[in-house]
Amino acid sequence: MWRRYLLWFAHEHVDFRHAEINSILSLFKIPIRFIEKPCLEKPYWIVELPSEDCAKKIASRSVLMKNCIELWSRAKSIDQLHINLRKSLQNTTSKWIFENVECAEYICPKELIDVCCSPNNSFKIEVETFCKHFSIQEKLDKIEEFTYLPLKGSVKLKNPDITLSYLEFYGVNPNNVPEQPYDLFFGKWIAEGQRDLIRFHSLKKRKFIGNTSMDAQLAIVMANQAQIAPGHIVIDPFVGSGSLLIAAAHFGAYVWGSDIDYMMLHGRTRPTRVGQKVRSKEESIKNNLKQYGTESKYIDILVSDFSLPLWRDGVKFDAMITDPPYGVREPTEKIGIERNNYTLSEEHLTNHIPSKVEYGLPHIYSDLLNFAARHLEMNGRLVCWFPVIRADYQDEQLPSHPCLRLIANSEQILTKLTARRLLTYEKICDDVSSVTVDPSSGVPNFRDKYFAIGEETRRERKERRAEEIATYAAVKARLGNEVT
Ligand SMILES: C[S@@+](CC[C@H](N)C(=O)[O-])C[C@H]1O[C@@H](n2cnc3c(N)ncnc32)[C@H](O)[C@@H]1O
Repeated sequence: MWRRYLLWFAHEHVDFRHAEINSILSLFKIPIRFIEKPCLEKPYWIVELPSEDCAKKIASRSVLMKNCIELWSRAKSIDQLHINLRKSLQNTTSKWIFENVECAEYICPKELIDVCCSPNNSFKIEVETFCKHFSIQEKLDKIEEFTYLPLKGSVKLKNPDITLSYLEFYGVNPNNVPEQPYDLFFGKWIAEGQRDLIRFHSLKKRKFIGNTSMDAQLAIVMANQAQIAPGHIVIDPFVGSGSLLIAAAHFGAYVWGSDIDYMMLHGRTRPTRVGQKVRSKEESIKNNLKQYGTESKYIDILVSDFSLPLWRDGVKFDAMITDPPYGVREPTEKIGIERNNYTLSEEHLTNHIPSKVEYGLPHIYSDLLNFAARHLEMNGRLVCWFPVIRADYQDEQLPSHPCLRLIANSEQILTKLTARRLLTYEKICDDVSSVTVDPSSGVPNFRDKYFAIGEETRRERKERRAEEIATYAAVKARLGNEVT
């Protein structure tokens, strides 16, 4: 029997919600029915799933979902919620009855409640309110109102057999909180999402981090969108401090990384943490995995320029997750030389350090997509960030490849002017031999635009300041020394 669930989300990274959950659903091949169209202003979805096990599987992966509740009742007012719940106790059919618009009737089958009421089941009731704070006493008063439920077991606050959840939703605008909640829910708690991982993998406590280490939550979202599963082989070709490998290894993948920067890769760059003078010898990607108990998932890391082919043709990866350089906080470079016909003399060969040239964003994404088309397993996924100037952004700018299908595109706003988009591609065709992709086909060079805008805003600020000074001088000349 399909059951009805409330999926309650954290109200952040809202644009990533669908992409993450859809990836998890397709990873576990879980069908879903939406009882109500999800909207970005509400931190919850009401859905039907084939079984409790499906709900638990989603919760076992999602970091954006807070928890999942088997929905027994819902209403637009407190009184109506209790009326609906009382009516559910009379509903001996195995059918849901609901009036969707006003939730005047939102009645679940009695059998859902009955299974929780055995004297052998200890229980507790939890109250959660969104966008409004209540004291412990106020919460206890709310709990007291549920005494008509025929719960026969004993109350147990730590690890009870059954947890019942009561949720009140007061909207998402903390500056305009209504007196009464907009929406109320009651049901049986089923599972917690993976929010604890955010603290567990926090950069604050991680042994080795760099200036551009990916935050723990987004790294997990990326691993989910890449549908990483136990035994997969995953690569990050712009690995930096290896944050994305940590998330991949957490979900059971074996991980490879490569980066052009020897110093970064071996934890020898200037320390990132404020107050730290020198890096400790312990700082390495391998030790990060050890810190989280996934050292056995470490394959290796390599110093390598991504623009130069490194892997044999037949080498395949299950997934690629990566955050290429944008050229703002770290240079976008590849090995090369501007001069033509340059040859290296024999005597310089042994201690030669190759020079570098600009590796423009269009070339980076062209290399990335060509690499993914060649080295991903069929249906394998590439999940990567793509920086954009928000005002200029159009879907047509996104890198594309005939062997890869873009299946998700979510925006994270960085500043007033800039954002980055998390792109998820799936490999749909293995015949790469005939495909060549023009690196400069429509992908803008973010770095050039970013600095042009920066230059513009600096100039604007200077002009405005000059105008202000001129106005001040003019006013002062008119009014004399009264002006300060
Ligand atoms: C945004 S950072 C990646 C940060 C990483 N996700 C982390 O969590 O630490 C981009 C990385 O790309 C590397 N990189 C730049 N140019 C490269 C190239 N041509 N080949 C390989 N890596 C390169 C930089 O050294 C940098 O470590």
